[in-house]
Amino acid sequence: MKNKKIAPSILSANFAKLGEEIILLEKAGADLLHIDVMDGVFVPNLTFGAPVLKDIKKLTKLKFDVHLMITNPENLLKDFINAGADYLTIHVEATKKVENCLKIIKSSKVKAGISIKPNTKLDEIIPYLHLVDLVLIMTVEPGFGGQSFLTEQISKIKSLKKYITEKNLKIEISVDGGINQETAKLCTDADILVAGSYIFSKNYKTQIQSLR
Ligand code: DX5
Ligand code: ZN
Repeated sequence: MKNKKIAPSILSANFAKLGEEIILLEKAGADLLHIDVMDGVFVPNLTFGAPVLKDIKKLTKLKFDVHLMITNPENLLKDFINAGADYLTIHVEATKKVENCLKIIKSSKVKAGISIKPNTKLDEIIPYLHLVDLVLIMTVEPGFGGQSFLTEQISKIKSLKKYITEKNLKIEISVDGGINQETAKLCTDADILVAGSYIFSKNYKTQIQSLR
């Protein structure tokens, strides 16, 4: 079985020393840097915007896996693309202009991602799969780190994997929320595992290795 990519979420970092944390994650063997952007509207929490990404981009070679939890992402896509997003993921629930957003992202040579909340059916994203490089399955309600993995989402991951294989699509599956050493083992069909609190709770390198 091929190794999964591990994407630490900086949501659980100490923001007072964000730069140092990112350098530590890179040294610890992270494959991608997962960046949770929240607007206080789509989710009941606020984080950071494109100017922060632009500054941290200078510190690391890690690819930026940007998870936009913002309403009407079409208004800010260009900012995140210019700030150095390598993957840019929008939520299907966040806008009426999903197709438009994905086309903007793809035309900028950035990998386009689509994400779904736990209560959203897989059917909602099927019409857009020909436009995406990544699907981000949420295994917690978006908004906060440190929540418990919703095991019932496993069947969604499996159905998605089946669909991708049958249609011969080139799409990475990423799983986000409540990932730890135990729940990681349930995500056999994932290509990328996002983990925040688990990685930041102890030695970053050991934690990252334990998820592969
Ligand atoms: C939640 C975010 C996640 C979060 C995961 O809205 O999308 O990326 O940081 O945190 P843990 O791994 O602690 O569940
Ligand atoms: Zn996330």
